[in-house]
Amino acid sequence: MKKIDKKIIQMKKYDLLSCPKCGSAFTVEGKSLKCPSGHTYDISKKGTVNFVLGYGEENYNMSMLEARERVIEQGFFNEIVRSVCEEIYAYFLASGREEEPIRILDAGCGDGSHIDMIGRYFTEKGIDTELIGVDISKDGISIAGRKDNEVLYFVADLSHLPFKENSFDVIVNILSPVNYKDFRRVLKEDGLCYKVIPDSGYLKELRKLYGLPEYKNQEIVSHLRENARVLKERKIRAIENVEAYADDLLLMTPMLWDREILDPGAKLTDITIEAELFTFGF
Ligand SMILES: C[S@@+](CC[C@H](N)C(=O)[O-])C[C@H]1O[C@@H](n2cnc3c(N)ncnc32)[C@H](O)[C@@H]1O
Ligand SMILES: [Zn+2]
Repeated sequence: MKKIDKKIIQMKKYDLLSCPKCGSAFTVEGKSLKCPSGHTYDISKKGTVNFVLGYGEENYNMSMLEARERVIEQGFFNEIVRSVCEEIYAYFLASGREEEPIRILDAGCGDGSHIDMIGRYFTEKGIDTELIGVDISKDGISIAGRKDNEVLYFVADLSHLPFKENSFDVIVNILSPVNYKDFRRVLKEDGLCYKVIPDSGYLKELRKLYGLPEYKNQEIVSHLRENARVLKERKIRAIENVEAYADDLLLMTPMLWDREILDPGAKLTDITIEAELFTFGF
């Protein structure tokens, strides 16, 4: 079966899409989604849909996102994804719901690798999932759409998510912006969000090499506490040797693009990944 047909079957089965312009439910007509007010969105050959036609700023381009995909393949973010999976698994076990699949949204999914890995984690545990990834970057979703998996990927803005209310058991939000209002709307009442925020040591060797001060996350954390009910905080720390893919690491990190390296002869070896994982609800 063609990829587009498989994804259309999934879209119909999940029945969670709603028009980002007017909030009405969609019907699938041929290879398009149509709402009663006449807003229409085409489904691509890869089974993705672009819900931000005509607006949306893109900071991330194809080469940066392909570099990010390769860095992720090398395992650079494994500790982050593993921690997120463990927390979701604990939630799943505590919820006592063994029959229904657990429906997870990756909000700001980039190249789509993390939600793919989350899916594999749960498949290995014999747990059924329904997986969705959204990102405002067309190129990110284009790369994600190449993957051979069961994830539905959409180009969408986090502040106008194309989903009905109470759609998700879990929202993951990894190193990406957040929109508490819309997360709250699409999350089920007993659903939980998992947000990964860089901590002060995040990429500290890289930042030092480019003359940047330590990362400060206080503002993001206070904003989170003001807008949501934080249930758990978990520190994530890993050190990765990046010698084999240092160029890709530099390419995937936009904050470095317009900066001069202070020591051009320096070799990138061990890089620190320090982050905080917040579990929250509303
Ligand atoms: C640092 S990247 C992280 C991507 C991915 N979660 C990862 O860890 O590899 C931040 C992502 O947020 C996305 N983003 C920024 N603003 C957004 C918005 N308003 N709606 C959806 N995605 C957004 C960017 O396009 C980018 O892919
Ligand atoms: Zn509409």
